[in-house]
Amino acid sequence: MSEKILVIGANGQIGTELVAALRGVYGTDAIIASDIKEPTYPSGKSIGPFEIVNVLDDENLRNVFTKHQPTQVYLLAAILSAIGEQKPKLAWDLNMTGLLHVLDLAVEFKVTKVFWPSSIAVFGPHSPQFNTPQYCVMDPNTVYGFSKLAGERWCEYYFTKYGLDVRSLRYPGLIGWRANPGGGTTDYAVQIFHEALKNGKFECFLSANSALPMMYMDDAIRATLSLMDAPADKIKIRSSYNLAGLSITPATLATEIKKHLPAFYISYTEQDPRQAIADSWPKSIDDSAAQNDWAWKLQYDLPKIVEDMLTNLKGII
Ligand code: SER
Repeated sequence: MSEKILVIGANGQIGTELVAALRGVYGTDAIIASDIKEPTYPSGKSIGPFEIVNVLDDENLRNVFTKHQPTQVYLLAAILSAIGEQKPKLAWDLNMTGLLHVLDLAVEFKVTKVFWPSSIAVFGPHSPQFNTPQYCVMDPNTVYGFSKLAGERWCEYYFTKYGLDVRSLRYPGLIGWRANPGGGTTDYAVQIFHEALKNGKFECFLSANSALPMMYMDDAIRATLSLMDAPADKIKIRSSYNLAGLSITPATLATEIKKHLPAFYISYTEQDPRQAIADSWPKSIDDSAAQNDWAWKLQYDLPKIVEDMLTNLKGII
C-alpha cells in the first residue's frame, strides 16, 4: 500500500526533522506537512506538500483528512512546559482537544497508524527521580505534564476501544541543530550551542547541577521511525514508551563544549520559573521496555552530541 503521511505541527523542533526524515524514506509527495502557519524554509530546501491546519478547528482538520486521505498521522502540535504555565487553559485545550480531534478523525478515516509524542513531563515530584520506571507514581504538576499524561490514557483507550494503532514515546529533552525548540524547560540545551558559537558565553536559566534526561535529535527521529515500523504485536505499551537518552546537567554540557571552545563561559540565572519544572522531572529514565519490545538502542553519547551540534551549527550561524 502506498503511504500518505500527514504530519501536524511540521514547523516545530521535531516536525522539521521528522518531515525531512520521512520524505527521505517515502518520497517528498507522500508526506503532507501541516502547521498553523506557513513554514519558513532555509533557502535551497525543496518544498513539498503543505497545508495550514489548526487542530482546534475540527472542520479545517476534516477537510485536510478528506483531501489527502492519510494512511498515517503524526500529531506534533502542542504547547510545551514553560509556555504552558503562562497559558494554562490554552495549553490544556490545544494539547487535549487537538489530540481528541485527530484520534476521532483517525478512527473515522481508517488511518492505519498514529504517532503522538508524550514526554518525561508526565512524571512528577513523587515519581522516582533516578532510573524512573515505565510504571510508577505519576503526579505531574505542569499543565503540559498532565495534558500529556491524560493524552497517554486517551491513546491507550482508543487502541483498546476502537482498535486504533496509536503509538507514542515519552521524549526526553531534545537537542538538535536544524530547528529550535519552542517554549520548553529543556530549551537551554539547544540555546547553549547557539550562544557558545555566537557570543562565547551563555546565561543558563537552570542551575548547574539540574540533571535531566536528554537525547540527540537523530536518535529521537530514529526511535520514532523504528517504533512506527515495528510490527503491531511488538508494541506492548499503548500509552507511551519511556525513552531514556542520557542524563545531562548544564555543567556537564558546558564542560564538554569547552573541550571544543576553551574560552566558553557559562553563568546561571538566580531565579527562573523553569527551575521548579526541571526539579519536578526525573533525572534519569529506565527505557528497558523500549529496548525489549522493539529493540531500541541509543547511539549518541554526550561527546558525539556536542561534536555534531558544533560542527553543523558552525556552518549556519
Ligand atoms: N522538552 C519539553 C519541555 O521542556 C519536555 O517534553 O517542555
